[in-house]
Amino acid sequence: MTNTTAHTSTDAATTTPATTGPAHADPTDRPRLVVLVGSTRRERFCPVPADWFAAEVRAHGALSVEVLDLAGFDLPQSLDTTPDVTALGERLADADAFVVVTPEYNHSFPSALKTAIDHYHSEWQAKPVAFVSYGGMGGGLRAVEQLRLVFAELHAVTMRNTVSFHNYPTVFGEDGTPSEAASASAAAKQMLDQLAWWAVALRRARAEHPYSA
Ligand SMILES: Cc1cc2nc3c(=O)[nH]c(=O)nc-3n(C[C@H](O)[C@H](O)[C@H](O)COP(=O)(O)O)c2cc1C
Repeated sequence: MTNTTAHTSTDAATTTPATTGPAHADPTDRPRLVVLVGSTRRERFCPVPADWFAAEVRAHGALSVEVLDLAGFDLPQSLDTTPDVTALGERLADADAFVVVTPEYNHSFPSALKTAIDHYHSEWQAKPVAFVSYGGMGGGLRAVEQLRLVFAELHAVTMRNTVSFHNYPTVFGEDGTPSEAASASAAAKQMLDQLAWWAVALRRARAEHPYSA
């Protein structure tokens, strides 16, 4: 459970379909983290680890957090620009860092997540991205490794550490809390330490020298 782990908690943030949390309301000017809920299935599990992780971010304290649920945005596979595409793009553009919460579908990540990624370019560039994954024996890590390749193409920087939940149905209690909460939180903290470092460094760098891809 250090660079890969299993784990949860619940925070109201992801229970609404679209977005929660003010994007510009942090008086401490902490870097802004967007947590993306990467599964859009009707019966999805994804909000459980996403809500747990958002609570971990708040406890960590270095980053402000906004949870964006991809199920709340109608993003066309044609990659045409629509009001929802514009709305999500504005939230992503405001972010200094991302955490993608993803399951594993056929050893990869959900197509809805790929569509969301493909709609945007500069919104991802020169920003750090970390991952929370879940699945069977593999804990969703094959999805994560593929996401690293995608985000490299978009000039994003992915974090070495991940938080992963192996055999996830046995890991989370009915209340959305992981059975091994301490190790889950320790894994989240390590990853957030890395993410916060990069978020501060890259925010400063982007301000000093606008990134050109
Ligand atoms: C199309 C599909 C493919 C799947 N493939 C995998 C897989 O390759 N590895 C795995 O661990 N779980 C796999 N699963 C099981 C998922 O881990 C499980 O359904 C999980 O709940 C999906 O996340 P979600 O409910 O948030 O969408 C698959 C599920 C679906 C729907």
